[in-house]
Amino acid sequence: MKVETTIKPSAITIAEAFIEFWIKELEETKGDFHVALSGGSTPKLLFQLIKEDHLDRFPWERIHFWWGDERMVPPNDDDSNFKWAFELLIRHTNFPMKNLHRILGEMPSDTECLRFAAEMITKMPVENGAPVFDLVILGMGIDGHTASIFPDRLELFKSEEVSALVNHPESGQQRVTLTGLTINNARNIAFLVTGKSKTDRVSEIINNEEVAKNYPASYVKPTHGKLTWWLDKAAAKKI
Ligand code: 6PG
Repeated sequence: MKVETTIKPSAITIAEAFIEFWIKELEETKGDFHVALSGGSTPKLLFQLIKEDHLDRFPWERIHFWWGDERMVPPNDDDSNFKWAFELLIRHTNFPMKNLHRILGEMPSDTECLRFAAEMITKMPVENGAPVFDLVILGMGIDGHTASIFPDRLELFKSEEVSALVNHPESGQQRVTLTGLTINNARNIAFLVTGKSKTDRVSEIINNEEVAKNYPASYVKPTHGKLTWWLDKAAAKKI
C-alpha cells in the first residue's frame, strides 16, 4: 500500500493542491468517474473553491457523486452532507443529476442502507465483492473516526457488507456509512485533514503508534489503490 502525504501551509492551499490532483486523475482516466464525497469542514472549503475558481476545469458529465456517509435526515437539513455538497457546488455546475447517487436520508435507515448498497453494486465496477470508487474523499474526526465509522464500530473494517447503519456515539443520530471493505477497495483514497485539533491523531496514525489501533482512520489501507493524506501545516505539525 502506497501512503503519501501532501502538506501545504493552510486549509485553502491544501484544498487547492487536492483540486489539481483530482483534475489530473480525471485527465488520466476515461469514462465514468465515481467519487464518494465526505462531510466536514475541509470538503466544504473544497466545494467552495471549485465553485469559485475551477468550475469549467471539471468534465462534469463523466462524474458520479456518491457519499462516504450520510446523516439520516432530510436532504434540506443542515446536518445533511448532501445538502452542503449540493448548495456549495453541485447546483452551480452542469452536472447531470442522473449521476447523483445520494443516500436518501429521509427514508427508513435500515432499508436505505440496503438500497444504497444495491445501487453501488449495480452502478459501479465491482472487484473483491465491493464497488470500486475512483476516488474516496475522507475527513477524520478528533476521535479518529472517518466517514461515519466511529471508534465503537471498528468491526466495520472486517465486515463483508459494503455499507452499514451506525449511530453517532454521542448524539445517537443514525447514519449510513461505507464500510472498510468499500473504502479500501478504492483506486484513490484522499484524507483531507486540517487544523491543530487533528495534529496528535494524524501523527499517531501516520507514525503507526500503538494508540492508533483505537482509531478507525488507521484502518484505511487501500488493498490495491493509493492513499494520500492532504494536510495543512497545523495538522501535520508532528509528522
Ligand atoms: C461527517 C463526515 C466526518 C467528517 C469528520 C471530520 O459526516 O461528519 O463524513 O467523517 O469528515 O467528522 O470533520 P471536520 O473536517 O469538520 O473536522
